[in-house]
Amino acid sequence: ARLDVTETFHHISFPGHIHTQDSLNYALHFQFQDRDTVIATYPKSGTTWMQEIVTLVKNRGDPQLSKTVPNWARAPWLEQHYSAKVLEATQGHRILTTHLPYNLLASALQGSKAKVIYVARNPKDVAVSYYHFHKMAKFLPEPNSFDEFLDSFLEGSVSYGSWFDHVKGWTSQAGVLANVLYISYEEMWLDLQGSMERISSFLQCPLVGEELTNSLRHCSFSSMSDNAMVNYTQIPKEIMDHSKGKFMRKGIIGDWRNTFTEKQIGIFDTVYSYQMKDCPLTFMWD
Ligand code: PPS
Repeated sequence: ARLDVTETFHHISFPGHIHTQDSLNYALHFQFQDRDTVIATYPKSGTTWMQEIVTLVKNRGDPQLSKTVPNWARAPWLEQHYSAKVLEATQGHRILTTHLPYNLLASALQGSKAKVIYVARNPKDVAVSYYHFHKMAKFLPEPNSFDEFLDSFLEGSVSYGSWFDHVKGWTSQAGVLANVLYISYEEMWLDLQGSMERISSFLQCPLVGEELTNSLRHCSFSSMSDNAMVNYTQIPKEIMDHSKGKFMRKGIIGDWRNTFTEKQIGIFDTVYSYQMKDCPLTFMWD
């Protein structure tokens, strides 16, 4: 059975299993604090990885918290129904996660000095990862063929809306938000140490010696795949069915080449160049 009721909010569909109109409105009117760290991503772009990195950086490489508290409890998604409760119980620095497009958070974020980390990933890899995730996540609609899924992805009718709008919205804030770091999944993948140094200095928490090596070790794909606090294996089968795939699936760049046909590449590239022509940032996959 699927739990794929959708909650439509500002013309975007959200999985109804974890979102309500109230929880979405809560995010829209959220009171950010200057010492908050906000991780903003389109789904499947490196959210969990960044939650782990920020947790480790804030704990100077000590994996205690990463290994004992689930990611959603230590870096809750603002728009999901449990976040208000989790945040009430959180003291000190908060790590917040969001998949919301920028326009929905704009008024809450403007004027705030909260630190925002925006992670983007090659949209072809996002589409493939998202397709596989739809097979196992029972709160998303069961996908048919990849071809059909790709059409919905390109037209922006999938959950959380259009990848293009998401990336354009958040990257348009380069000169507007006080504190924002843009980073890509590809950059993290190709140079995790350099990325970790960039992130930790942005968070004003520079790591030295073992703090850095421990952080690097604990946020590697293999270490995270074994960590029950981030690999979602503790989520009941009715919500995420691990017989249909793994959350920590492959963790590589360029996997789209194993899935896309020539025809799909052609269609994708046409939509991409049309949609991204005015985007102020260029990305590593361009
Ligand atoms: S979600 O559901 O939006 O929170 O998913 P998200 O965490 O954004 O993305 C999941 C993909 O990220 C990969 N991943 C990693 N890759 C490399 N290294 C590390 N440490 C890592 N952690 C997570 C994960 O495998 C998913 O990508 P795919 O391509 O499906 O493997």
